[in-house]
Amino acid sequence: MKSTINDIKVISFPKIEESSGNLSFIEEGQHIPFKIERTYWIYDVPGGQVRGAHAFKKQQELIVALSGSFDVVVDDGVQKKIFSLTRSYYGLYLPPGLWREMENFSTNSLAVVLSSTKYSEEDYITDYQEFLNYRQ
Ligand code: TYD
Repeated sequence: MKSTINDIKVISFPKIEESSGNLSFIEEGQHIPFKIERTYWIYDVPGGQVRGAHAFKKQQELIVALSGSFDVVVDDGVQKKIFSLTRSYYGLYLPPGLWREMENFSTNSLAVVLSSTKYSEEDYITDYQEFLNYRQ
């Protein structure tokens, strides 16, 4: 059965607060439900630009706004939900097979994506109609 919006999780990471500043961390097998094969990040996004308008067939991912903020709009072919990421100690876990767009990037925002797979062009569905067919 394909994942839906209900399988998305907002994960709260540990936060060590000190007068000298805060520290958060993610450990594989502890805070996220997959083995990390790749990490990439999106930055210097000009105002008004949209990134990530596609779905993955296999990739599971965890998206974190390490700096600044942005919205992740997720669509399972039936429902859409917007998650606003505004804090670096929250991560958005997305199972495979969901259409997701990242938008509303603040100035100097930094989106980091932890991925369960290596980069593979074949894993992408970039056409929305094709995505809807895939979901059927
Ligand atoms: P893409 O995933 O389409 O970016 P976004 O979803 O943020 O809009 O990737 C943009 C380009 O970067 C595309 O040509 C593929 C390439 N790319 C890699 O080479 N390796 C990677 O790990 C990723 C994520 C992208």
